[in-house]
Amino acid sequence: MKKNILVTGGSGFIGSNFIPHFLSKHPDYRIINLDKLTYAGNPKNLKEVETNPQYTFIHGDICDRILLEKIFMEHDIQGVIHFAAESHVDNSITGPGEFIRTNVTGTFTLIDVARISWKGKPHRFHHISTDEVYGTLGESGLFKETTPYAPNSPYSASKASSDLIVRAYHHTYGMNVVTTNCSNNYGPKQHDEKLIPTIIRKALTGEKIPVYGDGKNIRDWLYVEDHCTGIDLAFHKGVSGETYNIGGRNEKVNIDIVKEICSILDEKKPRSDKKPYSEQISFVTDRPGHDRRYAIDATKIENELGWKASENFTTGIHKTIQWYLENTGK
Ligand SMILES: NC(=O)c1ccc[n+]([C@@H]2O[C@H](COP(=O)([O-])OP(=O)(O)OC[C@H]3O[C@@H](n4cnc5c(N)ncnc54)[C@H](O)[C@@H]3O)[C@@H](O)[C@H]2O)c1
Repeated sequence: MKKNILVTGGSGFIGSNFIPHFLSKHPDYRIINLDKLTYAGNPKNLKEVETNPQYTFIHGDICDRILLEKIFMEHDIQGVIHFAAESHVDNSITGPGEFIRTNVTGTFTLIDVARISWKGKPHRFHHISTDEVYGTLGESGLFKETTPYAPNSPYSASKASSDLIVRAYHHTYGMNVVTTNCSNNYGPKQHDEKLIPTIIRKALTGEKIPVYGDGKNIRDWLYVEDHCTGIDLAFHKGVSGETYNIGGRNEKVNIDIVKEICSILDEKKPRSDKKPYSEQISFVTDRPGHDRRYAIDATKIENELGWKASENFTTGIHKTIQWYLENTGK
């Protein structure tokens, strides 16, 4: 008998890397992917599993309680991995309402239906969250699982709220939950709007490559495949009620990333005029409330669950650029 798990938001960037990864490792599972297919979800991302009998797609919204109840009953769901979210900070500044609806109300609806459907059975609910819930760092220090929450954008506030709802369902109802908070992911299939795909696309189309503010903001980069192995481990081995930070120990200043991508493109796909892509870099007005630095301490998941990132930024960005060169426009 295969075990059925519900993955939400599986047609987005991380979910669509996770599903093929998980199915290839675990032939004893079936995945039901519930995705609303917002602008960020792309069914093409999952072409490789479309005909796999272990995979079922359902088009729908995590805020739709009646649909969720039907899915839990008809598919005998025995675990949840919850990716679905509005995920782009810039969009949360121009339109925060959808972030509260999906990230807060959606997470509440999902975990509440799981609680009622599972009737006390210890099935796992794995919530995917972000390091942005911790706010911003100064020049030193790292986010640990014990760092107090201090979200600064409507996006991070909505994710922090969803983390607390999941936490409360463990403490109040004894649900078997685990939360992972990861740093910035990069890799194949990421939506065009995010930093790394934007740099690659604008470079290749000859447009200006926009860099916020002075370009000195620091993010800690995690190759998406490494994130998938971390989720798999935490889903199976994480201790109920615990949170685990997942980060690749790859702190990078934004402008250095832009320059590194430009110089890899100079080698892999030189401009027709042979000038460097870095000539296209253009500094633009900073994002309001832009957090200065994020950096994750991943010691807990490394020591307790034996996870380790296998890519550093240089190896990961080469793979990523190669993927975009081979797949852009398809
Ligand atoms: N990408 C990152 O760097 C990053 C970093 C930290 C945490 N996260 C978290 O990881 C998760 C996945 O991120 P991502 O980058 O893959 O996001 P994404 O924006 O690429 O994908 C989100 C997916 O959720 C779906 N979705 C949105 N609203 C929905 C709703 N109401 N019902 C059902 N489906 C809905 C979308 O259609 C899309 O397929 C999110 O929870 C995000 O907060 C992402």
